[in-house]
Amino acid sequence: MLKLPIKLGSNNYNILIKTNIFSEIAKYHYQNYINCRAFIVTDNNVKKLYLKKLLASFDKKKISYNFFSVSPGEKSKSFKCAENLANKIISAGINRNDIIYSLGGGIVGDLTGFLSSIILRGLKFIQIPTTLLSQVDSSVGGKTGINTKNGKNMIGTFFQPKAVFIDPQTLVSLSKREFLAGYAEVVKYGLINDKSFFLWLNKNTKKIKCLDQSVIKKIIFSCCKNKAQFVKKDEKESGIRALLNLGHTFAHSIENELDYKVRHGYAVSIGLLMAMNLSEKLKYSSYSDYILVKSHLASVELPINLKQLSSRKKWNVNILLKNMYADKKVYKGNLRFILCNGIGKAFIKENINEELIKKVIKEFIDV
Ligand SMILES: NC(=O)c1ccc[n+]([C@@H]2O[C@H](COP(=O)([O-])OP(=O)(O)OC[C@H]3O[C@@H](n4cnc5c(N)ncnc54)[C@H](O)[C@@H]3O)[C@@H](O)[C@H]2O)c1
Repeated sequence: MLKLPIKLGSNNYNILIKTNIFSEIAKYHYQNYINCRAFIVTDNNVKKLYLKKLLASFDKKKISYNFFSVSPGEKSKSFKCAENLANKIISAGINRNDIIYSLGGGIVGDLTGFLSSIILRGLKFIQIPTTLLSQVDSSVGGKTGINTKNGKNMIGTFFQPKAVFIDPQTLVSLSKREFLAGYAEVVKYGLINDKSFFLWLNKNTKKIKCLDQSVIKKIIFSCCKNKAQFVKKDEKESGIRALLNLGHTFAHSIENELDYKVRHGYAVSIGLLMAMNLSEKLKYSSYSDYILVKSHLASVELPINLKQLSSRKKWNVNILLKNMYADKKVYKGNLRFILCNGIGKAFIKENINEELIKKVIKEFIDV
């Protein structure tokens, strides 16, 4: 079993990665939380796939549990769903000793983490992420959240779990679309601060596409380790953690234009490439780095231009630029971009000439 200790002052915990990890979860619960019940939250898809496995392992150790399932999709990250779920959990008699588990992707993780941080003023929380995105990104860092009519993740808390259990084997049942949506974030880590990781990914494209378990395990471990370093330095996202938003100013604008009817990771794929393109135009990065990133994203079948994302949409440069000013990442009225001094060296940059930004966007429309 791979073990990644996360040390955050008073909040220390381990990320544990193993194929067929479910029996380890019950073992951990049994050893650490005697006489504590497990309250498991999942979604209706993951329930059919993995809940039985988890419950069987709890049964073996005679651990009592309750489980709750929500509909898959962003609608479950709403106040209404959070309220319903909180009422169900409280009605089932949860007390301060009990443990809340999230079994599922980032949606279940964000919602369950949020409730864990507020029910009875905070309960112990364990994550069992089952999508690539949640295994490499959302389960690390302690951000929880729900959406409001004003935007995604507008309400939430920073709340670290007691442990994260990752089974790479769960990715076998994931659709290719969902896998790729998570993979864009994997590439992002390489571009931010780990060139050799990016080059290794590029060398292993075939193995990645066929979900070679040892390659996937290494990817998950490297990404968690990488994200954890940022979280450790900047747990509440007031500084260096912002580098994790590489490509996201562009991506959020694109998602906004498509009424969020596109997988975030697909928009991130184009956002990463736009950031590399802008870095090249500003002479921070070479053209060959830009082309290398482009060819890698294309080789795994992630989109590399806006037409691939939506051929029907009439993309407009000015609207895409305007959307950027509505982003949470705008700082004192200035657009803030994460750029790269070549692959693996991201930095924050403000006050970029708007005409240059428009030129970048236009290149991704006119293909
Ligand atoms: N907290 C953070 O730091 C953070 C970071 C990034 C993203 N997020 C959030 O994560 C959410 C997206 O997460 P996601 O991409 O995991 O989406 P998701 O949770 O919606 O999962 C995607 C789909 O895959 C299904 N699924 C999950 N695991 C499966 C499996 N093993 N096999 C088959 N199907 C499976 C789900 O039922 C769902 O339909 C967004 O709400 C986003 O805001 C949070």
